[in-house]
Order: sequence, then C-alpha cells, then structure tokens
Amino acid sequence: MCGIVGYVGQGKCKKYVIDGLKRLEYRGYDSAGFVCIDQKHKQFNFFKKVGHVQELEKALHDLELKSSIGIGHSRWATHGIVNELNTHPHFNCDKSIAVVHNGIVESYEEIRKKLIESRHEFESSTDTEVVAHLLESLIKTHKTLKAAIVDLVRQLKGAYALVFLFEQYPDQLLLIRKRSPLLIGVGDDEMFIASDVLAFCDQTNKVIFMPEESFAIVKKDQIELFDFEGKALIIKPQEIDFKHDQVDKQGFEHYMLKEIYEQKRSIDRSISFCKFIGSNNFNNLTHISDNFLTQEAKIQYQDSIWSQLGITSEKIKELKYIYLIAAGTSWHACRIAQFFFENICKIPTYVYLASEFGYMPFFPEENSLAIFVTQSGETADTLEALRVVNSCNVFTVAITNVPSSSIVREANGFLPMQAGPEISVASTKAFSTQVSVLFWLANRVALEKKLIDIEVMKAAEEDLLLAAEVLEISIESYKWEIKQTLAKKYSKYNRFIFLGRHISYPFALEAALKLKEISYIFAQCYPAGELKHGPIALIDKETPVILFSSLNDLIYQKLVANAQEVKARNGHLVTFVFEGQQELIELSDYSFIVSRVNPFLGPLAMTGLMQFFIYQITKELDRPIDRPRNLAKSVTVE
Ligand code: M6R
Repeated sequence: MCGIVGYVGQGKCKKYVIDGLKRLEYRGYDSAGFVCIDQKHKQFNFFKKVGHVQELEKALHDLELKSSIGIGHSRWATHGIVNELNTHPHFNCDKSIAVVHNGIVESYEEIRKKLIESRHEFESSTDTEVVAHLLESLIKTHKTLKAAIVDLVRQLKGAYALVFLFEQYPDQLLLIRKRSPLLIGVGDDEMFIASDVLAFCDQTNKVIFMPEESFAIVKKDQIELFDFEGKALIIKPQEIDFKHDQVDKQGFEHYMLKEIYEQKRSIDRSISFCKFIGSNNFNNLTHISDNFLTQEAKIQYQDSIWSQLGITSEKIKELKYIYLIAAGTSWHACRIAQFFFENICKIPTYVYLASEFGYMPFFPEENSLAIFVTQSGETADTLEALRVVNSCNVFTVAITNVPSSSIVREANGFLPMQAGPEISVASTKAFSTQVSVLFWLANRVALEKKLIDIEVMKAAEEDLLLAAEVLEISIESYKWEIKQTLAKKYSKYNRFIFLGRHISYPFALEAALKLKEISYIFAQCYPAGELKHGPIALIDKETPVILFSSLNDLIYQKLVANAQEVKARNGHLVTFVFEGQQELIELSDYSFIVSRVNPFLGPLAMTGLMQFFIYQITKELDRPIDRPRNLAKSVTVE
C-alpha cells in the first residue's frame, strides 16, 4: 500500500526510481508519480500517471532527464479519488518544495483550514499536499530548516513516512518517519531511499532503518539524523542479506501459484529455524538459507528460544493468559492457533481482530503474553493494537515474516518466520507458516510447562513435517482434475457458502476470504452449526456449499448432520474430507480427500488444495490474480 522510492547520487535517478517503484508494485497502488531536479535547468521536472508504473515509465521514456536527485511514489488512494491531481508528488504554492507520503496525516483538515486563511491554494484533496504548504510557511517563520521541521512534526498528527525535495537545496532529500517505515540504503557516493527494502536490495546491503519519530537530511555522501526534538542521533547501517532474485516468479504464471508450491519448503525451513534457535552457532539468527536444512539436526531445546522472544523461561512457566492479535489471513491463523494454545498448553487464549482492538475494553491480566501475528510486520491496525498493549505492561511478541519490519522494532520480542518473501497480495505460504510456527510454539510452551515431554515435542515436529507433505501431495493428486474440469465448472457460480466447525471453521473463513479477494465471487462463511439458525434459507442449487471436515470424531459426526441438512434441501455440496470419512464422501456432489494427519493440523494439510482450487477458479475468470482490485499487500493505513 503506497510506495516511496528516492535517490541522491550519480545521475541514475530516473532508472533507479522507476525500477524501485516496479519492485514495490506488489504492495498495491492505483497511480504513480516522479519528481527530480533537472541538472541543466536546476528546476523540478515532475510527472504523474493514473494506473500502472509502466504508464509513468512510458511518459518518461523519451525524455533526456539528467538528474542525480529525485523521488517517486505509488499511491493507494485514501483522501481523494484516483486521479492525477491527487497523485504524489505534491507541492507548495510556488512549486519549490515537492513531497511524497505514505500514511495518513490526521490533523490535515485543521491545518488546511488555517493555511487557506493565510492564502495558500490547494490543487488536490489529499492530506499530503497540506504538508508541503505547512513546511513552506514554517520555513518563512523559522530561522533554520531544522527548526521548521521540528515545528512541522509537532503539528502533524497521524502516521507518515515523508520524503521532500527542495529546489533551494538541490543536493539533499529530507526524510521524516513516524509510524510508517522509511529506509536509507547507503551506497558509494549515493543513497537509496525506500519504504521497503525490496526497492534497493540489489544496489546495497547497507541499510539504515529510520528510528520511530526521526528525520534525516540525506546527501549523496552524508546522512544527518535527528529525533523529533532536533537532537542528533547516531545510527550505524545494518547489513542485510536479501537479494531480488528471491522474488522472481521462477517460471510460474503467478506469484500466488509459486507461493502455493513453496509452502512445504517454507514450513520445513521455519520449523528447522525454531528447532535450532539456541544452538550457539545460530544465536541472533533472523534468516536461514536452504543449506541450513541440510545440517545434522541436534535438538537441544535450549532456553534461547525464550531469549529470542525476549522472555524468560520462568515467565513462560507462569503464563496464565495468551492474547493473539492480527488482521485478515493472519487473524485466521490465530483463530486456528487458539485451539493449539488452549488444548496443548491449557492456557486460556483470546483472539482479537487488530482493527477492532483499539475500540474495545481490554483487561490486561498478570502473567499474560500478547502475540502479534503479521506477515508484513507493517499492518497499521496490528501496530496500533501493539502500541495499546505495550502501554498496558503486557509482554508483547511479534511473529512476522519480515525481520526488518516496524513490528519487530516495537514489540518486546520477536520470532521470525522463514516463509521467504511473499509477493502475491493473497497470503498463502505466510498463512501455512504462521499456523505451523504457532503449533510449534504451543508445543514448546507445553514442554516448558512440563505438560508434555520431549518425545511428544519431537512427535509434534514430525507431525508438522508430515502435514506439510500432505499439503503438497494433495495438490498433485487433484491438479489435473481441478485444471481440466472442476475450475471451469465452479467458476460459473456467482456465490458460495463456506462451512466449518471447531478448528475447521476459521479455516473455512480463510478459504472464503481467499475466494472473495482474488476471484471477486461472493462467499459467506458460517460455523456449520449455525446453518439452522438462519443461513439455511440460502441453500439452493445455485449456491454451492463448501464444507471442511475435521479429524475430531465428535465434530465429524456433527458435520455429517450439517451435510445432510444441506442435501435435504437440494443443496450442491463440495467437501474437503480426510481419508475414510465415508459418510461425508457419500453425501457430497464432489469430495477432495486428504490423508489423515495430527487432528490439530487438519487445516494445514488441506491448505494447499484449497488454495490451488481457488487459484484455478480465478484463473478461469481471468482476474489479475497477484494484484486484485482495491487491495494492497501491506495495509499501512488504519
Ligand atoms: O501483513 P499482515 O499479515 O499483517 O496482513 C494482514 C492482512 O492484511 C492480510 O492477511 C490480508 O487479509 C491478505 N490479503 C489475505 O490474503
């Protein structure tokens, strides 16, 4: 959601900014813009286009733009419709200050009103434009640029990553960060700016993650960093190990398909990582390579898993409550994990939607642990909820796929997943890896609390690897049938009902979300037991019911009864079942049959097949699978 790319250095500004914006396309956007200072005329050159970055690239293609400083932006509309006027960069009155912005300036209306009174004129409906005008007026009333910036950030409420370019200072960029990530890549006589490391990871591996509430004046060979009071900060670049080829499609038609097929590897890698945290060689490890998997396993179960999480073994033993907080697919993973923590660790576990969290009473308990689960580590709702919990003195841990993300810096401890970069907007491998890591963690907590012994812990790890294998094999078993007949058949329906019970209910929620977000087909999901309380009125031949079975015998019997309710009303029933679940198979119009696994891991085993089926339905409909309309990969606004 929105991307910032900036450059100051050696004249390759246009190329770097356009390439960088393309790399950030996966985050979702609806228009893009670019501004640079033309070396010859020493003035701004700017371009804005609605639609893809390619449109902007075309507009710039034939222009001889010799520039060594500039910024680009891809916008995901929040304030004002999608048009060129609202596209960034935005400017002050005499167009001598240009700014691009990620986030939302909450105080923009009152600031705008005051500025209009003092004769500022606005071209757009955005919150961003007021920032350029406000800085213009503050520069006039303060002695130094630094003093003006300190006053500016005092007046700006909300979340923002801002990058400014000034005609008056043609060799420097101004960067401001509050609650929205902004990074500086340090090169040789050049600096790369971006809101996501993917934009410049091929240019340099030296990165400065701007601290929360800081601003920086960046020249090609110098960075001055300050806190919001204007006090100088010293911060050294960190070395990162990240290459752009990690995010190639590698021959797959879509990232989503590639990522569906990467799940077994992502799970294996993540579990290896969890197992090995603690052996001295791997202390402070945030990322592992595949070579790591080939190393001999020496399971030590040292306490250092807890130091990775920043917590003590004593605290784990005393744990009385767990809070799981997340959004979207990550929230579904948490809903599944609630069954792990409550059944395996016997700890009451509350699952919260991050977007609702700030508006509900929260009763923090002693000896509790709050776990925030987020693929990107940048979801604004999740970060806001984290800030609330942090202020309540509850210990916070982030489980994320992006070790360099904001959540890692703000939570008390973190556990990095090893899913690898997820590019498709629809989350696939992040979901299965979250479920796997949470299952591992629940068992590890149970081991610490002496509720299980080491043999059970090892068996749980084996179960995870087996479920990951079933996830992959099931796709292979149904691949041709789905491609040749099933996808075509089911892509013709306009609506679906999804049903699950117990642990298969949150999984059904995830399946319904997947179908909705990439195919745009309407889907409603219910706990199967609720059917008779209302939704059963919707059952007809035109509305297929997709039901996900369970390996819990009692739940299975209840699901059979729910399937009968559907069939008794001439409903069309598709089921995802486990081997031997004959009654459900016989009731179904079509059944996907999956091998049996540890009952807690039933959803994990079905994940690949469910995602592949929905992917192929969507392909039939010719939708932009990796970048569905209106959606963004990282939802960085509340
Ligand atoms: O990066 P996060 O896991 O925090 O993202 C949360 C949701 O925005 C995300 O899972 C979203 O629901 C996906 N589009 C689902 O595929």
